[in-house]
Amino acid sequence: MVVLRTVREMQRDADRLRLAGKKLGLVPTMGYLHDGHLRLIEQARKLCEVVIVSIFVNPTQFGPGEDFERYPRDFKRDQDLALKSGADVIFSPEVNEVYSSNFGTYVEEQDVSHILEGKIRPKHFRGVATIVAKLFNVCKPHVAVFGQKDAQQAFIIKKMVRDLSFDVSIVVAPIVRETDGLALSSRNLYLSKQERSNATVLHESLQYAERKISEGERNIAKLESEMRTMIFAKGAPSVDYIAFVDPEVFQETSTLTLRSVLVLLAARFGKTRLIDNALIPIV
Ligand code: PAJ
Repeated sequence: MVVLRTVREMQRDADRLRLAGKKLGLVPTMGYLHDGHLRLIEQARKLCEVVIVSIFVNPTQFGPGEDFERYPRDFKRDQDLALKSGADVIFSPEVNEVYSSNFGTYVEEQDVSHILEGKIRPKHFRGVATIVAKLFNVCKPHVAVFGQKDAQQAFIIKKMVRDLSFDVSIVVAPIVRETDGLALSSRNLYLSKQERSNATVLHESLQYAERKISEGERNIAKLESEMRTMIFAKGAPSVDYIAFVDPEVFQETSTLTLRSVLVLLAARFGKTRLIDNALIPIV
């Protein structure tokens, strides 16, 4: 496995591999890899001949007061895990290699980037779209794999690819969970033992909504209020949102007349902000 640190080296390698007829897969990450990331690498491995994993904690997607500085970093560990899961190349540049001191061009999707996560984190998706666009230009993948864990991010990236005609196929892989249902996240590390145990309520509340909808419940306000009560009962100091979204257009819906509904939520346990979601069929 090779580790590349500069844009130029990565671009040259991507050109060489493409010229040799190889199909390139990219898995963009911010490192501190867990099974959720590793499943994406395995998926890319199945689809492509060469798998590139990018590891870069992207400063432009963190707001003031967020956890950019303390975001967990462990390159050696990531390297071993990526290798075991089938990565061929790690692209891991320094911040000043990606953002020069006079960097000033951003990619901003306009329709979906300022609701839900984007409302709480105003420049977040601008940072995500910009770094992902840049990674596409640097790593030149045929396929890029993202996780449904960040459903709004995956939607925005698919939209960016369509809007700007990037020549890359986007694959979205399912959410990987702990056995008790908590979605894997590099940020779970911040949770105290008590918070970690309480945080399973996020998945439980999504399962509750799924069960109620399958039993015929169609009142979104009632479901939302019951989910909120469940989460507060587990000591979450705040719930940022619980939203019922039409998965086709990623806009909030007020009725359950679609074929399926994407239920998304964000809540804090202590100081740690967690997100989760479920795509629920409406039968
Ligand atoms: P990061 O949080 O490291 O996540 C990298 C990829 O792993 C994302 O596509 C994310 O959705 C996926 N992922 C995380 N937890 C997952 C889980 N439990 N199950 C399945 N997939 C999971 O998302 C980012 O980094 C950044 O925003 C990035 C796209 C790299 C741009 O900086």
